[in-house]
Amino acid sequence: MRGQAKSETRPANAKGSSRGGAREAEKEKPVSAGNNGKGNTPSPSVNEPIIRVEDLTKEFQTGSEVIKVLRGVNLSVNPGEMLAIMGPSGMGKSTFLFILGLLQPATGGKYMAKGRDVFAMNRSDQARFRRRFAGFVFQSCNLFEHTTVYENLEFPLIYAGVRRKDRDPMIQEALERVNLTHRLHHPANRLSGGEQQRVSIARALVNRPEIIFADEPTGQLDRNHGNLVMDHFHEFIADQQSSMVLVTHDPDVADRCTRVVHLRDGVLHSQAQLAAEEIDRAG
Ligand SMILES: Nc1ncnc2c1ncn2[C@@H]1O[C@H](COP(=O)(O)OP(=O)(O)O)[C@@H](O)[C@H]1O
Ligand SMILES: [Mg+2]
Repeated sequence: MRGQAKSETRPANAKGSSRGGAREAEKEKPVSAGNNGKGNTPSPSVNEPIIRVEDLTKEFQTGSEVIKVLRGVNLSVNPGEMLAIMGPSGMGKSTFLFILGLLQPATGGKYMAKGRDVFAMNRSDQARFRRRFAGFVFQSCNLFEHTTVYENLEFPLIYAGVRRKDRDPMIQEALERVNLTHRLHHPANRLSGGEQQRVSIARALVNRPEIIFADEPTGQLDRNHGNLVMDHFHEFIADQQSSMVLVTHDPDVADRCTRVVHLRDGVLHSQAQLAAEEIDRAG
């Protein structure tokens, strides 16, 4: 079915959910800072998707021209899943990720996250939801200039309203995950490229998000560092029973995800659909 990404799910490092139940119970509660409720309750409904989009569209207007980037994307991501989005450049992968991370509005469609209709929320509820629900790793590190590693990690916590006494252990934990505790008070712009990328990952994890959106997180790294970054993500997702959607061009990175979809012509295709279409075209 066009636009419906129904692809096979492979087992990867991610383990079965032990936190879906906690999330289920949380669904009706207001989301509050520092109350991510991780890992307390066994899960009765592991397969409730953490996010689901239906018929998502995105158009850009430039002058008199309308560019239709997303033409009806359908996608569900389950707790514990690590989904890779691949596709040629300019297809709208970053745009899609920005929309999922509530950093950019969609033109149309529906977006449910944790059972809540995200597009129906007002802007401040959307902002609050984003800060507490999602972590974002940008294509370039986007660290704050002239600040330390500590300050880069503290900022999202302040923004999410986490109390001062709770911040330090969370910062420590996030830096431990990327093996950078020894750089806590280092100026961020004096770190190597690989270290900066690890700080940007720690910054995305510091809030213990329930879903991480990462735009080519290993794009600037060599194979060894890319593998290490993927190890960090796997560890976090297994520990926290989070989920992840990442954009990548690297087949090795995609191989380490539980599922791969391809963005082509404004819709998502599973691996199997793409292979069948390529055989059709060749025939
Ligand atoms: N703010 C914008 N205004 C106009 N066009 C945009 C804007 N952002 C992205 N686009 C266009 O949307 C398309 C998809 O871009 P992008 O999401 O960055 O693709 P990808 O990440 O797959 O390389 C491109 O043609 C790009 O030029
Ligand atoms: Mg991009």
